[in-house]
Amino acid sequence: MAERTILVTGGAGFIGANFVHALVELRPDWRIVNLDALTYAGNLENLTEVEGNPNYTFVHGDITSTDDVSKAFDACGDDAPVSVVHFAAESHVDRSIHWPLPSVQTNVIGTQVLLDEFRRRSAQRFLHVSTDEVYGALGEEGMFTEETPLAPNSPYSSSKAGSDLLVRAAVHTHDVDAVITRCSNNYGPYQFPEKLIPLMIANASEDKPLPVYGDGLYVRDWIYVRDHCEAILRVLEAGRKGEAYNVGGNNEYPNIEIVRRILSILGKPESLITYVKDRPGHDRRYAIDASKIRSELGWEPRFDFGTALPLTIEWYQTHSVWLQRVRSGEYRDYYARQYGS
Ligand code: NAD
Ligand code: TYD
Repeated sequence: MAERTILVTGGAGFIGANFVHALVELRPDWRIVNLDALTYAGNLENLTEVEGNPNYTFVHGDITSTDDVSKAFDACGDDAPVSVVHFAAESHVDRSIHWPLPSVQTNVIGTQVLLDEFRRRSAQRFLHVSTDEVYGALGEEGMFTEETPLAPNSPYSSSKAGSDLLVRAAVHTHDVDAVITRCSNNYGPYQFPEKLIPLMIANASEDKPLPVYGDGLYVRDWIYVRDHCEAILRVLEAGRKGEAYNVGGNNEYPNIEIVRRILSILGKPESLITYVKDRPGHDRRYAIDASKIRSELGWEPRFDFGTALPLTIEWYQTHSVWLQRVRSGEYRDYYARQYGS
């Protein structure tokens, strides 16, 4: 019998898949049910190593569907308490600028559907994975704390802020045991190559241009995905009900410096850098004050850019077949071949 069951949403995506791998390693007695709609960002090839694990079940379904969410809770069984770790989202800012509705549907409505079913099932704890982008943008000084007012600027971050508020409402109105994490930009294995770091690694490896938006001086605080996954586990197990916890890596870099580092590690020329038209409404800088999770829960990031960026580049080099199948779209056949529908 499992000690605890975790219903992970969006487990076939970048951070969700890394979290599933981390859980299998760190909590081998827990059961994992992964509910994922397999949008363009969902890739079951991220999870081939856990497929045969008797404690792991995949449910193909959409978090905006009450039937699919109910099916996923059914798959959790009733012999162990069920907690939800909610990753599923439309996660890309550029896509949300061009097509905002999917962000609203999945991020806002999907979160409410999950919260309703969670309450109906009297489940144990709901961990909502959110982002530092809900706080808006910073100038050259300052950092986001958990007290910073929500002031999102893109359709993506606005829909994530909407979902954070729905989680807050569930705690306040219905006494739901929920916690929120707000993390900075992640990098590491299995990231879809539409985001800065994997896109630049993939393009540089193929000697293609590296598109840098605007002046390239936009700043993000980068965290290795494994550190984020460990922070989520810590908050799930020890965070205080109703609280939000910022998670950050203390690794602030302008985009252009990251691009130059990638080129240098790969031994490629800077002539591949191509400045392109800026993203509309581009947030200038994000920086996270993670002192609350450090002091209350004793979590610390273990990786810095100096070690984890080369590790990440090496991962994409040794997983060139994975990358090529994502870039060509072949990864989308995997579900039908494996599950027969
Ligand atoms: P991702 O885009 O790589 O993966 C999203 C996953 O959710 C995919 O597997 C997709 O198939 C699934 N999904 C999308 N819509 C769905 C739906 N309607 N029903 C069921 N599944 C659906 O995203 P990611 O980068 O892994 O981000 C995961 C979470 O972490 C998101 O909530 C995001 O807001 C948050 N976050 C991401 C970062 C980052 O740097 N990537 C930073 C902070 C917070
Ligand atoms: P991204 O990885 O899309 O994450 P987010 O927008 O959520 O921070 O982008 C990170 C930074 O890199 C952001 O400032 C936009 C910039 N960027 C580029 O300059 N070129 C690109 O091709 C992409 C995808 C992003």
